[in-house]
Amino acid sequence: ILARSEHDVLVIGGGVAGLTLALHAAETRRVTLVRPANDDQGASRWAQGGIAAVLSPQDDFDAHVADTLVAGDGLCDERAVRFTVEQGPGAIEWLLSLGVPFTRDDSPTASYPYHLTREGGHGTRRIIHAEDATGRAVLDTLKRHAEGHAAITIRDDLVAIELLSDSENRCRGARCLDEQGQLQELVANDTVLATGGASGIYRHATSPHPASGEGMMMAAELGAELMNLEFQQFHPTCLFDPEGPPFLISEAVRGEGGRLYSTDGRRFMPELDPRAELAPRDIVARAIDAEMQRTGSPHVWLDVTHLGETAIRHHFPTIHAHCLGRGLDITRQPIPVVPAAHYSCGGIATDPDGRSSVPHLYAIGEVACTGLHGANRMASNSLLECLVFARSCAARLAHAEATAPASLTPSHSGSGSVDAERIQQWRLRMRSVMSQHVAIVRRDAGLEAAADELDALIHEVRSAIANAAPSTALASLWHALRLARLTVKAARMRRESRGLHYNPDCPEHVKTGLTPLPSRLHLHDLS
Ligand code: SIN
Repeated sequence: ILARSEHDVLVIGGGVAGLTLALHAAETRRVTLVRPANDDQGASRWAQGGIAAVLSPQDDFDAHVADTLVAGDGLCDERAVRFTVEQGPGAIEWLLSLGVPFTRDDSPTASYPYHLTREGGHGTRRIIHAEDATGRAVLDTLKRHAEGHAAITIRDDLVAIELLSDSENRCRGARCLDEQGQLQELVANDTVLATGGASGIYRHATSPHPASGEGMMMAAELGAELMNLEFQQFHPTCLFDPEGPPFLISEAVRGEGGRLYSTDGRRFMPELDPRAELAPRDIVARAIDAEMQRTGSPHVWLDVTHLGETAIRHHFPTIHAHCLGRGLDITRQPIPVVPAAHYSCGGIATDPDGRSSVPHLYAIGEVACTGLHGANRMASNSLLECLVFARSCAARLAHAEATAPASLTPSHSGSGSVDAERIQQWRLRMRSVMSQHVAIVRRDAGLEAAADELDALIHEVRSAIANAAPSTALASLWHALRLARLTVKAARMRRESRGLHYNPDCPEHVKTGLTPLPSRLHLHDLS
């Protein structure tokens, strides 16, 4: 059974980017927001550290721009960086006006009313936060405002599995599955993807239900250009807890003085980089990976005991409580940590208004590649990007032209079923290939092996699903698999090491004297 309904602006994804867009767009348009009922999905809810912005009188735009460019290792689009940084304070003002409970700084020496913490790559304190659970605080506030809004309809009973296009190749909404597994077509004038990144194509990620590139591939199926997929960020410090759920240990822990030690007791960062534990993430994650290889241990230690119990409980109540619940008192014991997939710097190539290369299709947040992060995202620049680009995208939508009617391209699907266990096995195979060959260090031989293994898997899955009825599990796997394959392609195309892409078979930056280029791929590059 296929039901069809008409919408004005369709937003897919309800994290910080999607909700911010919805609230702003609803000032001029009617918005339908498709988001999971359960906030455990996606990444926003799990963001701990905060939002980077120039707020202190001791800070300035040029300094934030310069730090972002250094972290991005030569591949940022400087216009996107400056645009984001300059819009930052306005975005924070907006959140404050909605009532986000950011942590205050009431000390007599405070130069700004809210506490600003520090993280890797930042030359100064510029991260506003709500204790150590910033994402949750922002998300809860945005949701509260969106849920009561007369111009916003929230659909948490649908999952988008495919975008709709018309005979003129414009995006016209999405095909979704409802809770009964029935197809529904939501036809829209404008569609905004805010579906998150692709950390779920790896075995271990920093959040429990990470996105796996579904939005990126849905856009690619309509012809959208994908950019910089090879730059997958691994957060240096996820709690090493084989029996427990994934849990991040915020970079703010190092920002407030936490130190890294190998399991044989060596503090390894100061000799590698003058910024020590506060070097950009790619450098710290690689150093941890190398120490784990050297010692043969599955983790390193992050020690905060010297900060004292009062400071630890004050700055990191969520982390302290979680670890205590897992039998670890971080005021007395070092924390075992390991890098895990955290953030996709690449995604759907967009302009500063979130426009993709497909008419009437927009992308914001982690699913997009705006040019801000380059080859390595600086900590806490991502929630900032969600806010800034959601706001500029909404401003563009306020003036967007209505779409003239045109016929929609039909979908084709069978009626057979594929066993859930089989889908899970395929997913695990993909994840283990990506984690083995396309993680913090990639080598030519490993990338070649990954390409072959993913090709074989794609072949197997394609024949198995040819006559299958659509399901969310199958759609997610099919998107993820092809996104993984494109990621390998992007990694093989980059014949250098830069930022998060480190290949010992070509360890240097390319020295052509030219500006380094982003990698750009389309769906047809899969064949
Ligand atoms: C963290 O708290 O370390 C995460 C912040 C980020 O990924 O930007």
